[in-house]
Amino acid sequence: MPNIVVVGAQWGDEGKGKVVDVLTPHVDVVVRYQGGNNAGHTVVVGKEKFVLQSIPSGILHRGCRCVIGCGVVINPASLIDEMEALVQRGVSLDGNLYISKNAHLVMPYHPALDRAAESQAGKRRIGTTGKGVGPAYADKAARVGIRMADLLDEQLFREKLEFNIRQKNRLLREIYDAEEFTVEGILGPYLRYAGWLAPYITDTALLLSRWIDGGASVMFEGAQGTLLDVDHGTYPFITSSSTTAGGACTGTGVPPTKIHGALGISKAYCTRVGGGPFPSEISGEIADLLRTRGNEFGSVTGRPRRCGWVDAVGLRYAARINGLDAFAITKLDVLDACETVKICVGYRYRGEVFTEFPEEERIWHEAEPVYEEWSGWQSATHGMRDYAELPTKAREYLERLSEIVGVGIALVSTGPVRDDTIIVAGSALPRWFPSLGASGAQ
Ligand code: GDP
Ligand code: IMO
Ligand code: MG
Repeated sequence: MPNIVVVGAQWGDEGKGKVVDVLTPHVDVVVRYQGGNNAGHTVVVGKEKFVLQSIPSGILHRGCRCVIGCGVVINPASLIDEMEALVQRGVSLDGNLYISKNAHLVMPYHPALDRAAESQAGKRRIGTTGKGVGPAYADKAARVGIRMADLLDEQLFREKLEFNIRQKNRLLREIYDAEEFTVEGILGPYLRYAGWLAPYITDTALLLSRWIDGGASVMFEGAQGTLLDVDHGTYPFITSSSTTAGGACTGTGVPPTKIHGALGISKAYCTRVGGGPFPSEISGEIADLLRTRGNEFGSVTGRPRRCGWVDAVGLRYAARINGLDAFAITKLDVLDACETVKICVGYRYRGEVFTEFPEEERIWHEAEPVYEEWSGWQSATHGMRDYAELPTKAREYLERLSEIVGVGIALVSTGPVRDDTIIVAGSALPRWFPSLGASGAQ
């Protein structure tokens, strides 16, 4: 049974939640491997909309085992809220949610430090989600983080908390002139969270290993996107975790020899939230059209997303860094209204055209996009479920994009709901999951 990584190929919000939800019936386990409640993965089921932040998007399918891996940072209050909201809406969590003992906690001082750092960053402000995810990963790397397992050991938790409070209060007071925290103010609520979460906290790496040995199929759900990766993204305008396919191993404890493929998710255009370079960004009427038609407002912060044309240079890079076997292209329907559609095929910088994603920050900021321009199909693809049904120009656009990035397209999404999905015949997806074949093919 194949174990597949689903990874964002742009700057996040590509529609990973929808794609994971669509594929979940064909796997046994879905595991999140990085990020925290900075993520917002939207799944639309009929008229109901769910936004998942720390819980895998497989949770809406009864019988799917969902794991929060060690690479995720967990804000326990936010996780408990998310769990309660799901239960209230009739989603069962009993016996199908597992939280890694090694996952690090987001502590109340992390969002405070996140916001304080941002407020002093001036033009190098990242535009974080303010959830404290960066400072939590910084503590993990600095070896002062507190993990889920510590939450279950009151004495150790108190010891680590006391050390951190001394250190963080100094920072908050002397560097940021911000409010301080007390041990008691955190201890009480966190011990309550411990009681609540204890039944779910376990050795998830061991469980995953046993399940895989027993023949289970695991899907790894990435958060954010390739260009936000701490190593491979547009540093320093990134998130602080390994969003790329490699993170699926370190973030779960499943070795690379047990992973069989990677599916990259990309919109048919491109968006970015927060600061940082975005070579194919556009402004004006067409950007507004994409934002409105695509409802491009952050699912966590509500911020308007910056919009632009699809960036094939970035997608080729994502294909290389993640070893993508196939792409899922989402939100094709958003382009239905465009007179022309463009694909960014190169970055022009000081007379040179880069077709491989450069590694210099200056180039990302200053490069001019080089476009291929195509006339739009200007007819509705919204809700189409069969590749052959798509307008010829839409197919040509997808096929040209696939040719430039050098990777096939296995899924095309034409609307937010589950069924507005085309599985491309002969692609990686029906090969991995033969039971998918039935749903509208080329
Ligand atoms: P994620 O973070 O990668 O899971 O993506 P988000 O959920 O943050 O953002 C994707 C948004 O696009 C959500 O509101 C989805 O409901 C919506 N969406 C996903 N696929 C499609 C599609 O094919 N067409 C349209 N119109 N909306 C889509
Ligand atoms: P999903 O999983 C889009 C962005 C923030 C900011 C940068 C760093 O829904 O695709 P952070 O709070 O992580 O330190 O912020 O990363 N960012 C996202 N952008 N989708 C996300 O998640 C994001 N998570 C973080 O806007 O630019
Ligand atoms: Mg999102």
